[in-house]
Amino acid sequence: MRILVTGGAGFIGSHLVRRLLKNGYERVVNLDALRYSGNLENLADVVGDRRYAFVHGDICDADMVATVLREHRVEAVINCAAETHVDRSILEPCGFTRTDVVGTAVLLEAARSAGVRRFLQVSTDEVYGSIETGTSKESDPLAPRSPYAASKAGADLFALSYWTTYRFPVLITRGSNTYGPNQYPEKFIPLFVTNAIDDEPLPLYGDGRHRRDWLSVFDHCAGIEHVLRHGEPGSVYNIGAGNERENRTVAEAILAHLGRPTSLIRFVQDRPGHDRRYAVDCARLRAIGWAPAVPFESGLAETVEWYRKHEPWWRKIKTGEFRDYYERAYGARLRDGVSKA
Ligand code: TYD
Repeated sequence: MRILVTGGAGFIGSHLVRRLLKNGYERVVNLDALRYSGNLENLADVVGDRRYAFVHGDICDADMVATVLREHRVEAVINCAAETHVDRSILEPCGFTRTDVVGTAVLLEAARSAGVRRFLQVSTDEVYGSIETGTSKESDPLAPRSPYAASKAGADLFALSYWTTYRFPVLITRGSNTYGPNQYPEKFIPLFVTNAIDDEPLPLYGDGRHRRDWLSVFDHCAGIEHVLRHGEPGSVYNIGAGNERENRTVAEAILAHLGRPTSLIRFVQDRPGHDRRYAVDCARLRAIGWAPAVPFESGLAETVEWYRKHEPWWRKIKTGEFRDYYERAYGARLRDGVSKA
């Protein structure tokens, strides 16, 4: 199959591109706008592969997308291009509609016009909203609560409308919180790992008892590829690993791996509208033959090790645009602090 991966220079996208090349796909085209979190260093090891091509461009540019689909005779599209960070969506909500909603709509229409045979939309469990108990099923109503989650829900509904209206073969994956090498250090795990390496405080929101189900990026990419190959068109598939942990437990585990004291944890003002818990039911994906393979404890240890060994990769990021963002998002919070929950 000849595949277009959008957002292939990002975290999940770059692991997916590498996986598809390893698994022998005929052509893998990476279309990426190289915004703040897109980083071609993530794919430095595949540039020599003749089956790989990189195109610098924005998924909102319909003409360019049409040209890429035609020139590379693309048969399947996997849309990983997205603005993904909840805290940024709280600071600047409108920007999220552009890439996440409009971009997906443009890509769907270009792919339909080009006769693409499969279109996989990479989504998130956050579209279900916060759930106190139990697990979210694919048929549950969408109840997004952050501007980011609302944008992704909009994209999901647009994609599903293409199946209903045109019988265009869309598939949707809704992955849980993903971690692993190459994740931009604004997200919880890489932020806490890199701050801990520098003996900087770890800003834990609220009481730190919010729960997430942690999914290795390797398992997540395996799930995406599995749905691409075996999924039923017009269907949604949850991807989760059943590694539900409280944030404070994860923070403590990171500190233990690095031999740093728990006194580095700083309880700070909570994120507005902070979802208490996500958990997904993955029976549908397991029924077609996928299962996670990476235990959280070893996956986290390997991730911490990756950040320890790749300081130049994240130091470059943390000294750039990231500093302004960090000051905006955390400056006052860290100065004010809150009493320990
Ligand atoms: P995050 O990686 O932003 O993923 P999401 O909000 O999409 O689940 O955050 C994971 C959890 O960690 C979430 O409950 C918020 C919390 N968190 C903190 O406590 N401090 C932080 O600095 C960040 C970035 C997240």
